[in-house]
Formats: sequence, C-alpha cells, structure tokens
Amino acid sequence: MSLEKVTIPEKTATGVAHSKLILVGEHAVVHGQPAISIPFPLIGVESVVERVQGGVYLDSSFYAGPMESAPKILTGIVHTIKQTLKLLHIPYENLLIRIHSSIPPGKGLGSSASVEIAVVKSLFTFSEKPYTNEQVLQLANISETYAHGAPSGIDSLTITSPSPIWYRKEQPIDYITPNGDFYFVVADTGRKADTRTAVDMVTGLIKTAPKKAYGTLERIGEITYQVREALEKSGKQVLGFLLNEAQKELESIGVSDKSLNRLIYFARQEGALGAKLTGAGHGGCMIALAQNEAHAMLLSEKLKQFGAHDVWPFALKNE
Ligand code: PMV
Repeated sequence: MSLEKVTIPEKTATGVAHSKLILVGEHAVVHGQPAISIPFPLIGVESVVERVQGGVYLDSSFYAGPMESAPKILTGIVHTIKQTLKLLHIPYENLLIRIHSSIPPGKGLGSSASVEIAVVKSLFTFSEKPYTNEQVLQLANISETYAHGAPSGIDSLTITSPSPIWYRKEQPIDYITPNGDFYFVVADTGRKADTRTAVDMVTGLIKTAPKKAYGTLERIGEITYQVREALEKSGKQVLGFLLNEAQKELESIGVSDKSLNRLIYFARQEGALGAKLTGAGHGGCMIALAQNEAHAMLLSEKLKQFGAHDVWPFALKNE
C-alpha cells in the first residue's frame, strides 16, 4: 500500500536503528537472570518524517493511512509516537511518518524495538532537538510493553548499543569486548515467533512447576556467566559447547520447536561448534557458531539449501 500526500519537501528528518540478537539468556532474563546480546547491523529500520497537509499519517509495510485508524498490531508504536510528539511539543497534524524496515518481524531480531527507536529518533531530528539514549529508550519502551507484556528491556538497550552487552534487569548494563573474532550464522526458520505467547508460557510453567522452571532459568543464568568468560577468555570451542547447553535448557522448557531444532541439529551436523535458538523461540531464528569465516559462508549456503528462509553470516570482532 502506498500513501500519496502533498508533501512540503523542505521539512524532512530521518532516524535509523539496527537489529539485535540475543546470544544467550533469553527467557531467563525476564526472571532476573543475566543475558548477553549483540547489535546486529546487517539489517535495520529507517524512519522518515515529512511535513504534509492534514493529520498524522503512517506509511509502512503493515499499514498506510491515518494514524488514528492504524490496526491493533501498531497500538504500541502509535502510543510511542503520541508521547514523543507531546514531549517535543510537535502539534498533532501535518505529519507523515514513513517506516522502511529490512528486519523480518516476529523473528526475534528486535524488529519492533528498532522501529520504535528509529521513529523516536526521526521525530527528535524533525523537531531539531538533541536526544539522549535514555530519552529514546524511555519512549521506545512504551511500545515494547504492548509487544511483550513484561519486556526485559534488552532489545532496545542492545539496539542503541555499539557493542555486545551484558544485561540484567534493574542493573547497569556492562559492555563486553570479545577476545578474538567469532563467526556466526543466523538462520530464519520462516516461522513467525510470538514473543508474548512464549514469555507467557514460561511464566505459566513457573506457576505450575516452579522447581523445574526456576532450576532451568538458574542453569541458563550460570551458562550465561560462562559464555561471557568464553567470549572474553576461553574462546570459541568453549563458547560452542555452552550454546548447545543453553539450547538443551530452552528445549526443556518448551520454547524451541521443530522448525528451530531442524536447523540447529543440521548446523551442528555441518560442523557448527554450537547452535541454539535466538530470541523468544517457537519459530523465529537460530544462531550457529562457525569454525571460521570460510566455514560461516559455507554453513550459510548449506542452511539456505536445507530450507532456511533467510541466512546472515556475520562476525563479532575484537574492536
Ligand atoms: O523479542 P525477542 O523474540 O528477541 O525475544 C526477547 C527475549 C525474551 O527474553 C524472550 C523476552 C524479553 O523481554 O527479554
């Protein structure tokens, strides 16, 4: 759908944001354990604000039209936009917000948080006001609450970070500098994940089987500490082993599924040092640690041939 509006061209402003990946700690992080996540700049979002005549309009792949009539799925972003306009004293009129995203939605790659951050940044730029990361995060988190229910906050923090982060709820974030280069492949099952359902499922398990649930979440927490050490000291062999351990725990609480397991086991069979789901699970994406750069390229090709919907080889470097 495209939206034709009379644009007053001299007033446009752009905001961008990249994607993110959770390396380890998903789900456990919602319940107070640490997690490690990585900015993923290969895909991202651009938001462009233009002055038009009339009300406030959105133009995105989900919906194009007056913001007031936006579908329910966009409720969160609509709230973020309204709050941002209010904060910046921008009148609720004569605006078109165009959102272009290369991040597949519902795949655990932080698409909703990237959209929110890009849009907030574009509105600040439009009003010619400087912004701090904290301001952007606060406004973006309004939408995240709609998307996730009780978000840990890790998505938005990673998207606004230049390097991998160590994150634990209500604690200051810590930045991680990898010791050496790590080559990964991210592969998309093609199945949409619903973060909220997966998060609610784990919360449900805590109620019905608290011993099992807390035991698993604590074990994921321990693995996360060891993953940090592997990134900073012990290296890729240990890291691979730990990613497999984390996957075992995630499977045991039911957040993996056939589509993920199929790609994960295939990647291991093809020489990945470790592989696990990334994000909420129940579809979405997996992440595999390759042996080196050439192996990452080969593994990407093989995963694609094996039916992965999309693949992204990428490096985490000591920079
Ligand atoms: O939005 P996703 O699919 O990357 O999942 C976020 C990770 C969870 O730990 C499952 C939820 C959260 O808020 O941290």
